[in-house]
Amino acid sequence: MTDNASLAPALEARGLTKHFTFRHGLLSRRGRVHAVDDVSLVLAAGTVTAIVGESGSGKSVLARMLARIVMPSAGELYLMGEKVVLGQKGRRQYASEVQLVLQDPFASMNPVHRVRHSLVRPLRIHHTAGPDLEESVKDLLRRVALSPPERFIDKYPHELSGGQLQRVSFARALAVHPHVLLADEPVSMLDVSIRLGVLNLIGDLRDKERLAILYITHDIASARYLADSICVMYAGEIIERAAASTLTDSPAHPYTELLLSAAPDPARGQPTPLPTRGAPPRLVAPPPGCRFHPRCPYVMEICKTTPPPPVTVDAGHEASCWLRLPAGERRPEASSQASLPMVRGGPGLHARKEVASRNEP
Ligand SMILES: Nc1ncnc2c1ncn2[C@@H]1O[C@H](COP(=O)(O)OP(=O)(O)OP(=O)(O)O)[C@@H](O)[C@H]1O
Ligand SMILES: [Mg+2]
Repeated sequence: MTDNASLAPALEARGLTKHFTFRHGLLSRRGRVHAVDDVSLVLAAGTVTAIVGESGSGKSVLARMLARIVMPSAGELYLMGEKVVLGQKGRRQYASEVQLVLQDPFASMNPVHRVRHSLVRPLRIHHTAGPDLEESVKDLLRRVALSPPERFIDKYPHELSGGQLQRVSFARALAVHPHVLLADEPVSMLDVSIRLGVLNLIGDLRDKERLAILYITHDIASARYLADSICVMYAGEIIERAAASTLTDSPAHPYTELLLSAAPDPARGQPTPLPTRGAPPRLVAPPPGCRFHPRCPYVMEICKTTPPPPVTVDAGHEASCWLRLPAGERRPEASSQASLPMVRGGPGLHARKEVASRNEP
């Protein structure tokens, strides 16, 4: 590895975009799903970056582009600082660096093969086994805390619990010695009682093995627990990003406030979601301007016409929201309505609720 490569992030995406085209109607007109739009992201060694967003916001399409399973419509990937030539060539080499773990461990494991077979295969294909193949398999099982490995190595998937099988999925991903792990909702199908164990396993892989990890979830509370930084995705775009504690303590985008208000928090008791209007947009025809504007309790005229630029709220904290522009740079329409207190981290819950109720139809 060159000096540059060792300083560069493990994986970087610049401007990744995916539009799926399809034909519809009697005239076979072309339509386009704007699944992911202009997403840039850095995954550094020894960190967990969370992507949080509701269903259909483009999280899985983004992960699949990062894994090179889905070809981007635009954008670039850099692996250890080297630009990745996108296409069919070099996919196996890339897979030995970047591994994807999926949501449903029962669907991602072959039901007719024992655990041993599922782990031997990647070790053989990628030539990553040590001198003793059986010992390499046992070592993988130990790394995901399936100990003693002899208890698990001859099991079929149906003989394991969801949590144990998800650990086998992680072991299979680790078999190729990747630098980057992309975990797409790895705990959402697991029983609540075993989720924490798998989240802690991901934390261990970050801390002990220095992997660069992308953790995709609907659940902002688990992202706060596990991740170093959080990116919030809405309708194919990243609308806010910051260190995990900053983003959850001082959200700067109304959508992040909404996510947080709906998340359970022992300190607050039962969640009281902020009032919003409408449903998530159809990505075939995303709303003009800010994509969140039809649901936003603080919507202004400019939000309906012009997409907001990413605004630096604080060091390392960015939000794409017109309300966050410093006063001097706000457009006239924005400044005329931005009567919210512009304190760091956004208006307090009381002020937010007041404005929300004022703007309710
Ligand atoms: N192959 C495809 N062809 C057309 N549209 C697609 C395709 N794959 C995904 N989409 C669309 O892209 C959008 C984003 O999908 P994606 O699966 O990334 O959402 P998600 O955020 O992962 O949702 P969930 O939380 O439910 O998993 C959706 O509108 C989806 O219908
Ligand atoms: Mg998904």
